[in-house]
Amino acid sequence: MNKAKKMYCRLFQTVFKIALPVLPYRSPEILNTIQDLPLELAERNISRVMLVTDKGLRKLSADLERLFSAQGIECIVYDKTEANPKVSNVEEAYSIYTCTGCEALVAFGGGSSIDCAKAVGARVAYPKKTLNQMKGILKIRRKLPLLAAIPTTAGTGSEVTLAAVITDDETHYKYPISSFPLIPSIAVLDPKITYSLPAFLTATTGMDALTHAVEAYIGRTTTKQTRKWAITAVRMINRNIQKAYDDGTDYEARENMLIASNYAGSAFSQSYVGYVHAVAHSLGGAYNIPHGLANAVILPYVLDAYGPAIYKKLKKLARAINLVDKYAAEEFAARKFIQHIRKLNEELGIPATLKGIKEEDIPELARRADKEANPLYPVPVLMDAEALQQFYRDVMAKEAADGQFGYQKCC
Ligand SMILES: NC(=O)c1ccc[n+]([C@@H]2O[C@H](COP(=O)([O-])OP(=O)(O)OC[C@H]3O[C@@H](n4cnc5c(N)ncnc54)[C@H](O)[C@@H]3O)[C@@H](O)[C@H]2O)c1
Ligand SMILES: [Fe+2]
Repeated sequence: MNKAKKMYCRLFQTVFKIALPVLPYRSPEILNTIQDLPLELAERNISRVMLVTDKGLRKLSADLERLFSAQGIECIVYDKTEANPKVSNVEEAYSIYTCTGCEALVAFGGGSSIDCAKAVGARVAYPKKTLNQMKGILKIRRKLPLLAAIPTTAGTGSEVTLAAVITDDETHYKYPISSFPLIPSIAVLDPKITYSLPAFLTATTGMDALTHAVEAYIGRTTTKQTRKWAITAVRMINRNIQKAYDDGTDYEARENMLIASNYAGSAFSQSYVGYVHAVAHSLGGAYNIPHGLANAVILPYVLDAYGPAIYKKLKKLARAINLVDKYAAEEFAARKFIQHIRKLNEELGIPATLKGIKEEDIPELARRADKEANPLYPVPVLMDAEALQQFYRDVMAKEAADGQFGYQKCC
């Protein structure tokens, strides 16, 4: 990246860092079981909600629908949310929301359903604006309808963040919309809802949460609080991800993963993510590569590339999970931490590379990642689109050897 752009990026990030204490961050009210949600909404005089979910979760959401019905709350279901949710999903749900006179949104699902519901809320608040016009930061200022988010993965942390990540149907450009009114009012962290999450998705969504914590921690806009959230999340994920992977019905492990994912979401909401996410989003939009999988695979490569700039911080993370003692050299500790992530991926059945990336697409994908990350993300080392291209090549390098995770480019 040239000097002028570097200066611009760092100046932009400094402005946001100075403004951080006065920005209107808020936390959702937390409920611990879905049983409590209908009464909570009834007390707010809500009589008709739109439940935003996906087809695969319909069986699981049936209990919640019954609970709403018992409380006298009508439930209009939108279950066509796709993974890496599209603008068309949001528009379809939005038109049903308005036609049926819903009064609130309930998101039941992973980050895809939660983000879809957030974007529906944004469209309700701004009926004359397209989602495309709301992409980027702080474009949404009006109050949204009440949103209760029930994460079924652990996860994206979307139930606590100010972001919704949406993909354009035509261009396959996946972009974040980040504005304070998108923070849900209620988050239900019910571990039993995540019991049915298959092992591989438990692994990849858990690694997404780990990536949030690590990217927030190593960035340059941290606070004492966000560092604490991030380090706690890293510790909790490290202790529980394998347990949740091995036994999906381990209540304690599922609960800890949900809490950790929530902490990691809180950390990156204020301290941002970095190039891992920017690259992963471009891959999710172009090839539908699942978000957590992309992050898990890319994370060690990006950490390696940051080099000495993050040794000190990675040593702190390495110490937090007892990989090294306080006498370890920073570089040694940092390498240990990166090696540990690679080992964790391997133990969780996550490959080291991703299939389906086409060399001819890389310049455009890297341009999109650059556009998302720069100047906003306070990454430890700035890279431009050309430098980011390397990460796509890193993760596609051993394509022929890995074989099993191939994704078709969206047509
Ligand atoms: N808004 C944010 O702050 C934020 C942060 C990170 C990621 N994201 C976005 O979230 C999306 C990814 O979300 P995700 O990783 O949670 O996955 P997802 O919502 O795309 O769900 C993946 C699959 O898991 C299934 N599933 C989910 N919960 C289940 C359960 N309990 N039992 C059985 N199956 C279950 C779903 O049906 C789906 O098929 C991406 O679009 C990503 O960009 C948003
Ligand atoms: Fe993420």
